[in-house]
Amino acid sequence: MQTYQTLSYDDMGKKAASIIASQIILKPSSVIGLATGSSPISTYKSLISLCAEGTLDFSQVKTFNLDEYVGLPVSNDQSYRYFMEDNLFKHVNVDPSNIDFLQGTTADPQQECKRYEAAIAAQGGIDLQLLGIGHNGHIAFNEPSDHFEYATFMVELTQSTIEANKRFFASIDDVPRKALTMGIGTIMKARKIVIVATGSDKAEIVKTAFTGPITPQVPASILQLHPDVTLVGDTEALSLM
Ligand code: GLP
Repeated sequence: MQTYQTLSYDDMGKKAASIIASQIILKPSSVIGLATGSSPISTYKSLISLCAEGTLDFSQVKTFNLDEYVGLPVSNDQSYRYFMEDNLFKHVNVDPSNIDFLQGTTADPQQECKRYEAAIAAQGGIDLQLLGIGHNGHIAFNEPSDHFEYATFMVELTQSTIEANKRFFASIDDVPRKALTMGIGTIMKARKIVIVATGSDKAEIVKTAFTGPITPQVPASILQLHPDVTLVGDTEALSLM
């Protein structure tokens, strides 16, 4: 694993964006897996700047996102599809037909998960997957469990994730209880992984995930087995490494 420590959250975004930009410059039709949450926002800001100045061209890039809440329509400002539109898609020249997203309002979640896996495979797999990390070690919405999920699936969110995400909703009762998410297997099949971590509240879980035992109780710990992972964190998040 390659680790980069940066002095600030903005620098973390610049570094992660540089890695993603390199991927896209070397292969303009790259398949990029994207993430939501507060951690990748500075990365998206830097990607938008690189696009605006002409360094980066998204016109052939294909995107998949890690996860989506069950039951939230795309028009809901807390849906992950809305987040991506707001924080990246509408600011860069990505072709809307190259954006694939899990449909949280599907009537048939199992079929939707199968469709998503097949769509990723049909694009030749993910070249680079961007990740954040939850306080309990979750990646995408793979919560601590007694096993690693192989493929995209529907998950019941844990109380700790519902608590962590309630800051974005009017009340905790509005936080969806379920989500569709890439499985650990889906993520591990990405050829390259970039994980961003920011803030002192992530220091403990970053240390546990990357230096502790590999266990489905800490889903991010499986990344220790991936051959091409880059951890980009600010000083606070990496303070215990
Ligand atoms: C959510 C997302 C994850 C994200 C995590 C951490 O649960 N499903 O993909 O990594 O939150 O979010 P943040 O970066 O805001 O701490």
